[in-house]
Amino acid sequence: MFKCCLLTVVTSVWTGALWADTTDESSVSATIDVEAAEAIFRKSCRACHGNKAQGASSYPALADLEPAYIATQLERYRAGEKIGPNSILMISHAKRLSDEDIANISVYVATAFD
Ligand code: HEC
Repeated sequence: MFKCCLLTVVTSVWTGALWADTTDESSVSATIDVEAAEAIFRKSCRACHGNKAQGASSYPALADLEPAYIATQLERYRAGEKIGPNSILMISHAKRLSDEDIANISVYVATAFD
């Protein structure tokens, strides 16, 4: 059951903006690396966004967002774009993420805490 839902979400990320500029990449993996995503989340996201990505005060909740939206926001922060009043906090963290990290973490935060 979980596997089927996860695959549906992955497909929606693929059709989103995330892969628009990575079409030359021949080795895009078919499923996300949950362990890698979990490691990133524990190390560099949950201190601000919460154990279950539920958010707190000025840190937005992530768990109820769409993977494609999360990926787009992370790419914008990684590019140094200022989105809200506290973007500087996100920009420094997003700059360390690879395309693969973003794909993994976007699906992970949107699906792991249902
Ligand atoms: C130092 C605290 C901090 C850390 C660590 C952090 N964030 Fe954030 N995050 C924020 C803040 C604050 C915002 C709102 C920024 C703004 O005003 O633009 C935000 C915004 C976001 C958004 C956009 C939400 C929306 O509704 O548009 C996403 C997605 C996100 N963070 C994901 C992550 C992920 C994934 C990680 C781990 C790689 C992470 N964040 C690490 C503080 C943090």
